[in-house]
Amino acid sequence: MKVIRVKDANEGGKKAFEIIKDGMENGVKVLGLATGSTPETLYQEMTSSDLDFSDMTSVNLDEYVGLAGEDVQSYRYFMNDQLFNKKPFKETFVPNGKAEDLDAECKRYDGVIADHPIDLQVLGIGRNAHIGFNEPGTSFDVTTHVVELTESTIEANKRNFDKVEDVPTHALSMGIGSIMKSKKILLMAFGTDKADAIKDMIEGSVTTDVPASVLQNHADVTVIIDEDAASKL
Ligand code: GLP
Repeated sequence: MKVIRVKDANEGGKKAFEIIKDGMENGVKVLGLATGSTPETLYQEMTSSDLDFSDMTSVNLDEYVGLAGEDVQSYRYFMNDQLFNKKPFKETFVPNGKAEDLDAECKRYDGVIADHPIDLQVLGIGRNAHIGFNEPGTSFDVTTHVVELTESTIEANKRNFDKVEDVPTHALSMGIGSIMKSKKILLMAFGTDKADAIKDMIEGSVTTDVPASVLQNHADVTVIIDEDAASKL
């Protein structure tokens, strides 16, 4: 893993943008994208740049079960609002949280990933080291699946909802097996909340108890962390 230390999330967003820009100049056509507060500075860099994304495809990691794309708390809404409405892509994919048959939706999304192999996957990390919504204990081989969110994740994500009871209990998530097939991976983490997860991911053993530790087995991972997220290394 290549670790890049930055001062703060703003500098991290700029570094991440340089990596994406460089990737696009070298043939990257499919971006795997993440939600959460972590990639926001990257998306700001992308939208304020003069880079053209109209030939690019994006495949997002996850979506809450039960939320439609028009719902302001959905990840589809977040992506449209933060990035796609300002910088049109050729095609954008996010799992459908309102699908009637969730198993069929997982299979459909696996097909999307197979048809659009990810050149560069952007990741955040949960406080418990989840990636996408792959919570501790998830098999490293799994593809798109329905996840029951842990209490820690619901607690961390409640800030975007009026009350904790409104946070969906389930999500659809790209699996670790699919994430690991991306040619390049770029993980960002900012803030002391992420310091334990970053330490375990980089210095701990590779175990399903720490989902992000699987990235030690990937050949091309760049990690961008600020001083707070790096504070336990
Ligand atoms: C959610 C998302 C993850 C994200 C994580 C961290 O659980 N499913 O993809 O990495 O939150 O979010 P934040 O960046 O807001 O800390």
